[in-house]
Amino acid sequence: MSNIIILNASPRKNGNTSALVKAFIEGASSNGNEVKEFYLQTMTIRGCLACMGCARNADPCTQRDEMSPIYDAFKTCDVVVLASPIYFLGVAGPLKTTVDRLFALFQKYGFESCQRDCALLMTSEDPTYDAAVKWYSDFTDSVGWNSIGEILGSGRTDEAKALGASIQR
Ligand SMILES: Cc1cc2nc3c(=O)[nH]c(=O)nc-3n(C[C@H](O)[C@H](O)[C@H](O)COP(=O)(O)O)c2cc1C
Repeated sequence: MSNIIILNASPRKNGNTSALVKAFIEGASSNGNEVKEFYLQTMTIRGCLACMGCARNADPCTQRDEMSPIYDAFKTCDVVVLASPIYFLGVAGPLKTTVDRLFALFQKYGFESCQRDCALLMTSEDPTYDAAVKWYSDFTDSVGWNSIGEILGSGRTDEAKALGASIQR
């Protein structure tokens, strides 16, 4: 059984990205995995202040906002799923903001103890995923995360479900 967190940046709970997320959850749950979805658009998550409090004594961040439940869930999760529509060739703002705030954990606990499996679920109008996938690939490489899959495209729910169901540990 793995603990999985999903960071979903789509503003549409019944939209294309959320359809991939729902299918992924269905697959992952069918295998007895624990899944927790964070619907970022409804959460108050401010941008990283680069104050470096995390390098001193902040626990883990100087800001008190709704990153707190994400920090808590990250500490015990095995897999992080990044889910977003393409917005102007990149990931939607709330996902980038949330990932930036994970810096506090990397700073406080070190990259090694923050290593996780990860996956990417994205949708767009046209197949314009290259820049976002490059960011995902470069980011996950830089922090030592291991990608278990990328599902790119509205309607690819069967693949999202299969990816979720492939997680067993
Ligand atoms: C602000 C904004 C920017 C977008 N930029 C792109 C884009 O650069 N390329 C593209 O193919 N689709 C773009 N789209 C379309 C969405 O990525 C697409 O409709 C996506 O499936 C919406 O996901 P959702 O149903 O989860 O909201 C954009 C949509 C919005 C609202």
